[in-house]
Amino acid sequence: MNAVPNITLNDGSAIPQLGFGVFQIEPQETAKAVSEALGIGYRHIDTAEMYGNEKEVGEAVRASGLDRGDVFVTSKLNNSFHEPDDARRAFDETLSELGFDSVDLFLIHWPLPTLYDGDYVSTWKTLEGFKQDGRARSIGVSNFQVEHLERLAAETDTVPAVNQIEVHPYLTNETARAYGREHGIATEAWSPIAQGAVLDDPTIVQIAEKVGKTPAQVVLRWHVERGDIVFPKSVTPSRMEENFEIFDFELEPADVEAITALDRGEDGRTGPNPDTFAYVPG
Ligand SMILES: NC(=O)c1ccc[n+]([C@@H]2O[C@H](COP(=O)([O-])OP(=O)(O)OC[C@H]3O[C@@H](n4cnc5c(N)ncnc54)[C@H](OP(=O)(O)O)[C@@H]3O)[C@@H](O)[C@H]2O)c1
Repeated sequence: MNAVPNITLNDGSAIPQLGFGVFQIEPQETAKAVSEALGIGYRHIDTAEMYGNEKEVGEAVRASGLDRGDVFVTSKLNNSFHEPDDARRAFDETLSELGFDSVDLFLIHWPLPTLYDGDYVSTWKTLEGFKQDGRARSIGVSNFQVEHLERLAAETDTVPAVNQIEVHPYLTNETARAYGREHGIATEAWSPIAQGAVLDDPTIVQIAEKVGKTPAQVVLRWHVERGDIVFPKSVTPSRMEENFEIFDFELEPADVEAITALDRGEDGRTGPNPDTFAYVPG
């Protein structure tokens, strides 16, 4: 059976290790996709204000008939709203769009070190307030490099519960993952199959043939065995099912190592570099 394990976060909350991501799902397709995912058994949805589909995520959760407490929902602060007053308004809007009293996890989407005078610290302190007032059960960050995490540790009181970063076989992102491991910050691996780019890799295909699973299942299993949290995105029901069926097999340690060895460092990055990314929606 497909029992998804929970990971215990540093604040005591539990998060399902496998979830469903909704980046690049059109708002008009989102409720259907999330309903399908919940029907398959996913109990963790990863959205963001930037994705423009929080409203439809909330609708699908309500329509599922599941208790709100049985579905873990994450959203993220958009890049336009790092200043504390803006962040408070944006968080109100996120809850209003979702139609929820609280989110399970709220993240700073990007550190934007070249904007806002490099001040993601006051943004983080604003998120601490959302946790204190109970409207965010957990708070965390996304795309934070080690130096950004070190600065939060030096200047604030709350260690982020998670750091959501790009991780897949071509960008294993070991430095940020190791910092997280050492400081009790769970790593969430975004673009876990590199949006499909790793699925034709000969090493991965060969392991998949050996264990009788698909390349996507092998890569998602690799993440899970490394202890990271994943939420692959798909609008294709058969792929949603495929991506959910990763708890009925194991990889040999040598195969885990062979996949890890595919790392291409910075050349393997598919998304923006967090040190320079400065996109602010108009
Ligand atoms: N914090 C951040 O900055 C950030 C950035 C990026 C992503 N994320 C989060 O991470 C989630 C996942 O990342 P992602 O959406 O970028 O990429 P991903 O999950 O690595 O890949 C999604 C792509 O792979 C295809 N796919 C899914 N399952 C497949 C399978 N079993 N076989 C073959 N192809 C498959 C999907 O196609 P179809 O949909 O057509 O089936 C889609 O094109 C996002 O949805 C979002 O929640 C966060």
